[in-house]
This record gives sequence, structure tokens and C-alpha cells, in this order.
Amino acid sequence: MKLENRCLIQALRREPADRRPVWLMRQAGRYLPEYRELRSRAGSFLALLKTPELAAEATLQPVNRFDLDAAIQFADILTIPDAMGLGLDFRVGEGPHFRQRIARAGDVSALPVLDPERDLDYVLAAIKASKRELSGRLPLIGFAGGPWTLAAYMLEGGAGGGSFPVARAATHADPVLVDRLVSRLGVAIAAYLTAQAHAGADVLMLFESWAGLLDPPGFRRYLLDPMAEIITGIKADTLARHCPLIVFPRGAAQHLVSLAALDLDALGLDWTVPLGTARTAVGAKVALQGNLDPAALYAPEPRLRAAIRALCAEYGPGPGHIFNLGHGISPDVRPESVAVLVDEVHQH
Ligand code: CP3
Repeated sequence: MKLENRCLIQALRREPADRRPVWLMRQAGRYLPEYRELRSRAGSFLALLKTPELAAEATLQPVNRFDLDAAIQFADILTIPDAMGLGLDFRVGEGPHFRQRIARAGDVSALPVLDPERDLDYVLAAIKASKRELSGRLPLIGFAGGPWTLAAYMLEGGAGGGSFPVARAATHADPVLVDRLVSRLGVAIAAYLTAQAHAGADVLMLFESWAGLLDPPGFRRYLLDPMAEIITGIKADTLARHCPLIVFPRGAAQHLVSLAALDLDALGLDWTVPLGTARTAVGAKVALQGNLDPAALYAPEPRLRAAIRALCAEYGPGPGHIFNLGHGISPDVRPESVAVLVDEVHQH
């Protein structure tokens, strides 16, 4: 189906666009009263995730409320470890938690080979439902967690308070274990993203939210090389190879040049990266997505608008900028501030 709003696709190809595209990480979520209502109707976050019609409704909520240029499928990066049998749950105030963690080689070889059509059918069904409801209005972004970020959660058995001490220790104490895990995950991620493209996703994205935990040799070994293999896997599929690919490596600004050498279309930047410097370094090779500080949404309206204008000016003229936050929206942001953000971006 032909898309009515193509500015995200145009920007991803670094072609002149009708307008500067904007969408926001975690645009469907707790800051929206209609999301909180939907989640309580579903009973829990996981029930919402696993009910395709409701997940499609969550996907559409932000694009029905705001003039955004893309929808992102409502799902989670932890669907893969959950489907591999680790037993995901979300504890209030603690974030994600697994019943089992990966501690030794036998745990990796015991992981089932992921068949997305069978094991993650609910995500694929939700993508189809979202596409149906979008009926060509906007592109739909499908996503997965990156190999290192998923490995970090699986080695830690949860969020590790955000510092992942067990996972970080494993990168030095048992590198072969981590190699095996990221390589198993890489195969699963490539198959999952390919299946999402077949279900209708127009753009694919990889979240490497914990890229910033790795030292330089670890970055190459557990993130960059496995990512290259995932991309080779996606490009082997005649349909998926045409979906533009965005990679969000949080906390890895020092590695932008090696990331941009991969066969990808855009890099997502966290809010600590100077956008102009990033463009000078890699802007001729990839589009750039980002990177307003999510905390800027707490500023009074004139200051929020000024911060957005400054960021657009810092990117400079010419195509290839996708406006976004430098990380997900916080749950207590006022929806009115998001409306201001979208309005200001579209004035440029
Ligand atoms: O962006 C979107 O709107 C699409 C949906 C989406 C969610 N999670 C929904 C969600 C996406 C793209 C994600 C990605 C994700 N999930 C990442 C990568 C991006 C990032 O934030 O770095 C990570 C690390 C996760 C793992 C995860 N899932 C965490 C750490 C949490 C937060 C736990 C908490 O209570 O704050 C989740 C839960 C989650 N995923 C929520 C949503 C809307 C909140 C669940 C709720 O409704 O309570």
C-alpha cells in the first residue's frame, strides 16, 4: 500500500522531504491518559502487549492525538527473551525481571531456536492490525532489541538497577559465554525483524539502549560485529532488505563512525551527543535521528520551543534529520508539551 505521509522514508534516504519528520521514542505510554485506561482494561502491560487488537490500539493512540510522522508498533524489546522461555515480568518500581537468567554455556545451548511466526505470533498479528488501522496514513516502525542489550538483560536476569554488574562482569570473566549468547540472539533478531517486515512494518529499528556499558573491545565484539551479522541476515531477505533500518546506540557517541560504516540508514542519538558534530562526522553516510533531552519537555513552552529551534538549526540545512527525543518520554510529561514539540518541529 502506498503511504500518504512519506517524510520519514524520505529523510531516512536523505532525500528532500515534504517536512522534517518527527516521532518520539515511547510515544505510546503512561503519559497518555488513554494509554493508562487501555492498560487497566487489558489488566497489565504484558496482557496489553500480547493482545493484538489492544496493542494496535496503543500504537494508534499517539498518532491520533498528535500530528506525528510515524507510528511505532506497541511492543517491547524483551519479547525475544520472553519467547525463549526466560519468564518475563514487570515489577512495580523495579522494571523488567526474568525468572531465569543465563549463567553458563549450558543455559545458552538450552535456549530454543526462535521461530517468530510461532513464538512471537502476537507481535506479528499486532503489526498487521496496526497496518490495517493506519490504512496507509503513516509508516509503521517495527523494532527489536540489539544483541548486546538483550544479552545484558538475560545475563543479569533483569534491569540490574541500570548498571548491569553481572552482565558487565561476564564480558570479561566469560567472553565465550557472551559470544555464544549474542550470536544466538543475532540469529533470532534477524529472523524477528524480517518477519516484522513481512507482517507490514515499513521501517525497522534496533535499540542498543545499553551500548554505553561496554569498553571499546567489548563494543566491537558484543555489539558491532553481531550487529553487522544481523544486518547481513536482514539484507538476505528480498522484502526486508528494502526497509530502512535505524540503529539507536545509547551512550555510544564515540563509536558513531564505526557504526555508520554498517549497512544502515540512520543512527539515533541520545541527548548528550552534539547533533552538529555528529552530522559532520557521519551525516554524509547516514540520516540522524534525535536528540532533544527528554527532560526539555518539562520546560515552559517558550523555552521548549527555543530548544527545538536550536536543535534544528544545529543540524543545519538539507535533508536527513528525523526529529526525536534522545531517549523515551517520561511517564509524567504533560501531553500538552508533546503537542507543542510536534507543532514547533513542523514550523521548520
Ligand atoms: O516507543 C514506543 O512507543 C513503542 C513501544 C516500546 C516500549 N518499549 C513499550 C513499553 C518500545 C520501543 C520499547 C523499547 C524498550 N523496552 C527498550 C529500548 C528503549 C529504551 O527505553 O532504552 C527497553 C530498554 C525496554 C525494556 C523495558 N520495557 C523497560 C526498561 C521498561 C520500563 C519499566 C517501567 O516500569 O518503567 C519496559 C516497559 C514498557 N515498555 C512500558 C512501555 C509503554 C511501560 C509499561 C507500563 O505500561 O507500565
